[in-house]
Amino acid sequence: MKLLLALGMLSCTLWPQTRGAANAHYQTPEQRRRLAAALSDSARDRLERPAELVRALKICPGSRVVDFGAGSGYMEPYLSAAVGPHGQVIAEDVHPEFLDATRKQVARLGLTNVRLVCGRADDPRLPGRWADLILSLDVYHHLDDPQAILAALKRSLAPSGRLVVVDYYRRAGAIPGMNALTHIRADRDQVTGEVQSGGFRLIDQFDQIPGSQYVAIFKVRHRR
Ligand SMILES: C[S@@+](CC[C@H](N)C(=O)[O-])C[C@H]1O[C@@H](n2cnc3c(N)ncnc32)[C@H](O)[C@@H]1O
Repeated sequence: MKLLLALGMLSCTLWPQTRGAANAHYQTPEQRRRLAAALSDSARDRLERPAELVRALKICPGSRVVDFGAGSGYMEPYLSAAVGPHGQVIAEDVHPEFLDATRKQVARLGLTNVRLVCGRADDPRLPGRWADLILSLDVYHHLDDPQAILAALKRSLAPSGRLVVVDYYRRAGAIPGMNALTHIRADRDQVTGEVQSGGFRLIDQFDQIPGSQYVAIFKVRHRR
C-alpha cells in the first residue's frame, strides 16, 4: 500500500490534475530526491511489468532508444539489454536529482550503452533524426507544454522511428488507491488526439495493465 501511495504521489495530487498540480511534488530538490527513491522501488515490477513492456515493443538489437523523462533510470536495465552492445540508450530528464539517480544506477549496473541528457521543460535537447524509439513512461501527464515537446520529439526521431506513450487511464480505479478521475488530466483518447495533432499517426495501442495503464505507439505523419 505504501508503494501504491508513493507511485500515486508521483503522478497525482489532491487537486484535479492540471499540469501544474501534477508537478506539485517536483518543486524542491528534496521532494525530487524522495520521488527518485520511490521510482527505483523494485516492487514496481509487479505492478508495471517493465520486462513485458519492453518485449512488447520488439526493440531490435543495435537500436537507438530514448527514455524521455527517465526519472531515476528504472527502465535503463531493460532498454540497455534490449538494444544490446551495438545499440545506444539516451536517458533524458529535466531535473538534476533524477539524472543523478540515473547516473548512479547506470554506473552500478555497468550499462555502457546508456548516456544521459539534461533537457529543458520545452525541449529535451536530443540529437536530430536519431531515435528508433522514444519511450515516454508516466511522463505525458507531467508536460507543461506537450505540443512543444511533441515537435521536439518529432525532430529527434529517425525516419521510421516510433514514439511510445505509456500512461494511466483517466478512469475510476485506474491508479490503485488513488482517484484517477481527479488526478489524470486527459484519458487515452484525448492524449492520442493531442499527439496526432502534433504531427503523429497512431499505429498501435494496447493495455499495459488492463484498465490502468495503456500503451499508444505513433510514427511521424508525413505529408503527401
Ligand atoms: C512519474 S516520473 C516517471 C519517470 C520514469 N519514466 C519512470 O517511469 O520511472 C515523471 C518524470 O517526468 C519528468 N518530466 C517532467 N516534465 C518533463 C519534461 N518536460 N521533459 C522531460 N521530462 C519531464 C520528471 O522529471 C520525472 O522524472
